[in-house]
Amino acid sequence: MAMADQHWHDYNKNGKKDVFEDPAQPVEDRVEDLLSQMTLEEKLGQLSQIVMEANSDEIHAEHLRRGRVGSFLPAWEAIGKPDLRNRLQRIAVEESRLGIPFLMGFDAIHGYRTVFPIPLGLSASWEPELFNRVQETTAFEATAAGIDWSFAPMVDLARDPRWGRISEGFGEDPYLGCLYAAASVKGFQGDDPVDRRRVVSCLKHYVGYGAAEGGRDYNTTDISEYNLRNNYLPQFRAGVEAGAMTVMAAFNCLNGIPASGNRHTLTDILRKEWGFQGFVVSDWASVLELIEHGLADGPAEAARFALEAGVDMEMVTSSYIDTLGEQVASGKVSLETIDNAVRNVLRIKFRRGLFENPYVDERWQESAFLAPEALRLAREAAVKSCVLLKNEGNCLPLKTDGLKIALIGPLVSEREELLGSWAGFGKGRDVVTLEEGFRAKLGLDACLTVCRGCGLTKGRRTITRTDGSVVEDPDAPIDEVAEQEFTDAVEAARNADVVVLALGEPRGWSGENATRTELGLTGRQEELFQAVASVGKPLVVVLFGGRPMSVVSLQEKADALLMAWQPGVQGGHALADLLFGDASPSGKLTASFPRSVGQVPVHYNGFNTGRPQYRDYRDSTHLPLYPFGHGLTYTTFEYSPVELSSPSLSRGGKLTASCTVTNSGDRPGTEIVQLYIRDVAASRVRPIRELKGFAKIELMPGESRRVSFEIGDEQLRFFDENGNELVEPGVFHVWICKDSASGKPAVFELQ
Ligand code: GLC
Repeated sequence: MAMADQHWHDYNKNGKKDVFEDPAQPVEDRVEDLLSQMTLEEKLGQLSQIVMEANSDEIHAEHLRRGRVGSFLPAWEAIGKPDLRNRLQRIAVEESRLGIPFLMGFDAIHGYRTVFPIPLGLSASWEPELFNRVQETTAFEATAAGIDWSFAPMVDLARDPRWGRISEGFGEDPYLGCLYAAASVKGFQGDDPVDRRRVVSCLKHYVGYGAAEGGRDYNTTDISEYNLRNNYLPQFRAGVEAGAMTVMAAFNCLNGIPASGNRHTLTDILRKEWGFQGFVVSDWASVLELIEHGLADGPAEAARFALEAGVDMEMVTSSYIDTLGEQVASGKVSLETIDNAVRNVLRIKFRRGLFENPYVDERWQESAFLAPEALRLAREAAVKSCVLLKNEGNCLPLKTDGLKIALIGPLVSEREELLGSWAGFGKGRDVVTLEEGFRAKLGLDACLTVCRGCGLTKGRRTITRTDGSVVEDPDAPIDEVAEQEFTDAVEAARNADVVVLALGEPRGWSGENATRTELGLTGRQEELFQAVASVGKPLVVVLFGGRPMSVVSLQEKADALLMAWQPGVQGGHALADLLFGDASPSGKLTASFPRSVGQVPVHYNGFNTGRPQYRDYRDSTHLPLYPFGHGLTYTTFEYSPVELSSPSLSRGGKLTASCTVTNSGDRPGTEIVQLYIRDVAASRVRPIRELKGFAKIELMPGESRRVSFEIGDEQLRFFDENGNELVEPGVFHVWICKDSASGKPAVFELQ
């Protein structure tokens, strides 16, 4: 009989159930009843998350029988093994004194086995509802593998593309970030946390992780309270208000106190101001890293600082379970503090229904993965995530017949590269490559020449050691094979009617611990691009990457440039749909693309300064290569001037800002109409523009649509350094436009 059909182990001590065993009882009563029966070791066990190894059942069993495991997260070889999870869960439930089930956590960030575009790409769809559907599918597949809890969404605001983890988040804008945070939580958790095809979500990394100095991952952050309140905290608050059941404390040091030991953010704000009722888990070893940071002098102090700051569960290190018992005995740590942390963990386990359903149905896995509807969603998501950055002379879409096409570049046939850096349980074999997408679209008699041209990184200059190992050596003699490959590509371009180049950066150069000092193409790709461009044929570039990239030469010399991010398992089909016109690009950037790394940070929503006329560099404009909100399609749109229902607004009142958008081209198209405001003068300076609304509309050629937005306190508020919400009288500018760098504002006054 499959595990899921078996009911919760029925405690019939003295012929009656304990309160905690009775799902009809209020959760808080169940928490208190169970807590009252737990030993200190069992309490500390609930505050411990350890790595589940695939072949260590006996070691795990020993811990489980003693109630020392609150949660597991799988080592690489233990991923996708629901039977392993059930086997260990049975020990926890049937062979420990109180039978408390463990929570199984995992990084299902943008898909589990069906891998979707990276979140930075998904965010370019400007469709929170799409995120909801993607994360619902992610949860559906993850639960089949025995996952209860996904360490997602990552909601860190990111304004520095050198930081590799910009790929995992929603870009540089807090307004969009809030919408996506809430949509992701709802997608993961649904409305009923007991639903076994949903997972517990985890807002991460709390807080300020994306502001790392130098863009270097894990590095120090120094963020004013004013900046925290208006740019880094709102996304977490939106996630908490959407019902997120857990939060993950971050690695970074924040204003002198590491985020995983920062009581101000973890308790004063998260719990006291926002009323968060779930539990906080540390990041990987971030409790013990308080020593390295220089906050704690050893494991005991690290455990005490983290616990008392508000970290309930320690991920993978064991300072809690190793040292807190003695610290309680010595009076250094109060039992009440321990109990509060345990309450938070038990509350989520009861709410999740884990006691009633501790097992997963092992039959699910066979049918759950890569379902047709999941693949359709993956293709839709990839189409909507891509951003058309340039399309000179309507080079795109390409005709599907009668064209000799040269498909060139190191990413033409790559599989894993399209999965992104947090690919969950994704497999390269599931990926539709760009070449495969082309061949499926064009048919067998297509005149398509495919060649790599060069590798993704500097690996072409290699030497082979006597033991047969091949190592990179920039001074090694030129690799004749690579040279031939390179010249073949240029020759293919010469013989083609149109060239499509698939260029970018390796997926391992973004994501965690993947910081770059440059933001351009890697290896010899720039050289390949220049050589192919010099042939002079119509040139389309498909750019793959996990971050905004500085691609000035592509902007100058390519006829068309499409940002594909890392598009997931259906990338090849989605890109073929877009390049050959079966779908039109509709994505818009949620993170600015700098001209050079020297401009970083270059986000749209900065302050005006006292001398805005002096913002340029001696060697460059201050303006980005592509601004936030930029994205083209296969038609054009005209915007009428913004009209306001009134030139003035009283506190608590509303006015309407409207504009007529017309499809002035000859193809149907989708436009993301954006609403920006500027508070011209306030008690604290405000950004030169802030996104406060958008509408994604589809228009037929010649069709016009009146687009209106309501403006009231919600669109005009900001926070002071203490978190107080302010709406201040004065003049406001309002734009309704196609991106953060366009349009003329209308003006109104708040009385
Ligand atoms: C990693 C990441 C975090 C992830 C966790 C578990 O270091 O920072 O995002 O959820 O460890 O894998």
